[in-house]
Amino acid sequence: MSFEPQKINGKFKGKDIISLDQFSPKDISILFKLTKKMKTIAYNAKPSSVLSGKIVTLLFYEPSSRTFGSFGASVKQLGGQTVDILNPQVFSSVSKGESLEDTIRVFEAYSDAIVIRHSVAGTAKIAAQAAKFVPIINAGDGVGEHPTQTLLDLYTIQEKEGKLDSLTGVMVGDLLNGRTVHSLLKGLSLYKKNTVYLLSPDELKLSKEDFQKFSSSGVKLIEIESEKEIPQDANFWYWTRVQKERLQPQSLKNYENLKTRFIVNKDLVEKKAGKKTIIMHPLPRVGEIDPEIDEDPRAVYLSSQVRNGMYVRMALLSLVLKSS
Ligand code: NCD
Repeated sequence: MSFEPQKINGKFKGKDIISLDQFSPKDISILFKLTKKMKTIAYNAKPSSVLSGKIVTLLFYEPSSRTFGSFGASVKQLGGQTVDILNPQVFSSVSKGESLEDTIRVFEAYSDAIVIRHSVAGTAKIAAQAAKFVPIINAGDGVGEHPTQTLLDLYTIQEKEGKLDSLTGVMVGDLLNGRTVHSLLKGLSLYKKNTVYLLSPDELKLSKEDFQKFSSSGVKLIEIESEKEIPQDANFWYWTRVQKERLQPQSLKNYENLKTRFIVNKDLVEKKAGKKTIIMHPLPRVGEIDPEIDEDPRAVYLSSQVRNGMYVRMALLSLVLKSS
């Protein structure tokens, strides 16, 4: 029996969060209204009790800094607690051969939600199918999706640009394997008149299938071959890391060369960025953004983009787990 996560349709409570496909612009606007309020809660020294008595399991099969850290901080900001399972393939019964389904059934007995990151695309959906009592939140499944990253990316764009439609963006790097790119393209396609220029090494282009899928869902995609073709004054640049751990053997041999094929530096910013172009990156970066531009006010990857991750996740958790 095929399983599809439910559409949000204005109601987040108890729902799995697996893919951007579940969201409409209205759902995103409900989430963003609350996100704004979460900023105040986070700055407020007084503890919040929105998630008091709630336990969230963070089940991370793949390494993570921001997603793990910000989910943990979000739960704690709201007065809840976490069960942290890092590297279950080494430190839990998964190493003894326990299946994903059994692992999920076990941790749902201890918690009110499970946030899962895994190296295989589709795993979050399998986990959601296995869970009987608690919602599953996808924190990145292989080359598949990373919905909460997209929600924070969209929030960051909206905060700076005041809108999510009629935007021109540039996405650069590993478009074949980058799940943040895949989810963000789905996110942008929910709004009208968005155009995204795609720049990547040949072997890391968006797959033909994805290109078709995203173009037909509404976002206009234009593949370009070099930095020279980056449009002047785009609304945002979204640079990404070459996903070393997901490369085919042929590309892996060429990793050092692929890794820094396209670099954001002062020279490029001076030539191509507009006064208001925001420079984004989901992080980690491994050489593709020169630290010389970190203090440029247009660079948001170490400032608002990171911070918004916590606020958006606070809002999402409170909507999914709210008690009334
Ligand atoms: C991204 C991821 O895990 O997909 N990181 C993140 O969650 N911020 C990007 C990456 O690893 O390149």
